[in-house]
Amino acid sequence: MKRIYTTLLSLSLLTASQFVLANVNMEQAENFYKRTCATCHGKSADKPALGQSKIINTLNSEEIYTALSDRKSGKIQGAGNMVKSRLSEEEIKMLSELVPILKK
Ligand code: HEC
Repeated sequence: MKRIYTTLLSLSLLTASQFVLANVNMEQAENFYKRTCATCHGKSADKPALGQSKIINTLNSEEIYTALSDRKSGKIQGAGNMVKSRLSEEEIKMLSELVPILKK
């Protein structure tokens, strides 16, 4: 039982480190966000895109990462998927770090 617990713990640490490892230039990330996402989600990620999405600056990095990956892969269909399907893995990581700190 203890061993299972330890394995689960190291797995979750591994997931968390994906975000730590991404070496993000926040200014570059913010410019990319403004060009690519702000029209629908708002400059501070504080608007419901097309009146349909959650306020994405309330989501954490892991939630953003999953949301973008699932839309890129087509697992989740949505009106913003055209943009999301073009994101690279690096861009998804960059946005996952940026969006939660956009709130003012
Ligand atoms: C054309 C408008 C549009 C653009 C541009 C757009 N989105 Fe979206 N986004 C939406 C809509 C509409 C939804 C809700 C539908 C859905 O679940 O996909 C959504 C959903 C999301 C979600 C999930 C939120 C939820 O409700 O669960 C995230 C995270 C997200 N977008 C991030 C981004 C990021 C980051 C970018 C820039 C790369 C981006 N979006 C560009 C329209 C857009």
